[in-house]
Amino acid sequence: MTSSLSPARQQAADSAAPAITASSLTKRYGDFTAVDGIDFTVARGESFGLLGPNGAGKSTTMRMIAAVSERTGGELLVAGLDPERHGPEVRARLGVVPQQDNLDEELSVRENIIMYGRYFGLPRRYLVSKAEELLEFAQLSHKARARVEDLSGGMKRRLTIARALVNEPQVLLLDEPTTGLDPQARHVLWDRLFRLKESGTTLVLTTHHMDEAEQLCDRLIVVDQGAIMAEGSPRGLIAEHSTREVLELRFGMDRNAEIARELTALLDAPEVAGMIGFSHIEVLPDRLLVYAGQAEAAMERLHASGHKPLTSLVRRSSLEDVFLRLTGRSLVD
Ligand SMILES: Nc1ncnc2c1ncn2[C@@H]1O[C@H](COP(=O)(O)OP(=O)(O)OP(=O)(O)O)[C@@H](O)[C@H]1O
Ligand SMILES: [Mg+2]
Repeated sequence: MTSSLSPARQQAADSAAPAITASSLTKRYGDFTAVDGIDFTVARGESFGLLGPNGAGKSTTMRMIAAVSERTGGELLVAGLDPERHGPEVRARLGVVPQQDNLDEELSVRENIIMYGRYFGLPRRYLVSKAEELLEFAQLSHKARARVEDLSGGMKRRLTIARALVNEPQVLLLDEPTTGLDPQARHVLWDRLFRLKESGTTLVLTTHHMDEAEQLCDRLIVVDQGAIMAEGSPRGLIAEHSTREVLELRFGMDRNAEIARELTALLDAPEVAGMIGFSHIEVLPDRLLVYAGQAEAAMERLHASGHKPLTSLVRRSSLEDVFLRLTGRSLVD
């Protein structure tokens, strides 16, 4: 590919530089700070996640990486290049799956991929066979001639991902790749993304599905209101910020806070707390979350003391618990 880069820059872009380096990365819209001086590095071949609720600044960060939005402050390098100074070179190395599909509804499925490839200056003959390969990868070969407006939501999402791969990107940016898809379609997509990662593509994805982050991310940052709350692997974050297990209890809305106090007194007693690995109780509007290493044992204590929840459930801690612990709020409202 032709490039305006000096040989040294070209080498940085194509060799050992991290996929992405952000330091004090900031984006303001007027007085409002959407991204508040965040630092992170994504290694080549890594699968990196931005996990956070609505308005956390995930898409804003993705757009700065994708060289479609200018930063207000800080430094950003993508494949060793500043997206603001080397936009075309950065875009040539990236695949972008935006939060909203922006396919050409009038064109056929196949033509969407071919037209997109033309923007990168790729020859049509190459693109015809590339489109076939990508449609197979996205399980859309049978829809090659269909018009995009006739596809289901899940198929459109898969086509957007296929299209983003037309230039064989080093880094694939996925902004909420599976939001709105049914469970089966999500699993198919996860499988495809996993294969891409295996083949060496760096994945950067945003999500507010903790199970997606747990499935796909080697490492992630938890973001809230433009700032990084925590960083680590899914398992590492859970180990650091939560207990191994959680006991979920429902007693009826109006009794939760009062019962939480009683249960805390019961489970925090010196002879009990150590044995069950009790940490604390979170009071949510509809339920109590008892954080303990041994949630079954906590439940036995509770029964023995005469408490009778309407429902109870023992589960492993998840990233949702990490988020709740760090922010006092749920990830999905
Ligand atoms: N062009 C804009 N002008 C003004 N404010 C904006 C603009 N784009 C985004 N914002 C604001 O910046 C904040 C972060 O938005 P962003 O889209 O990055 O959030 P997000 O983490 O992607 O959320 P979601 O999960 O809902 O997609 C929001 O408060 C949003 O209203
Ligand atoms: Mg977003």
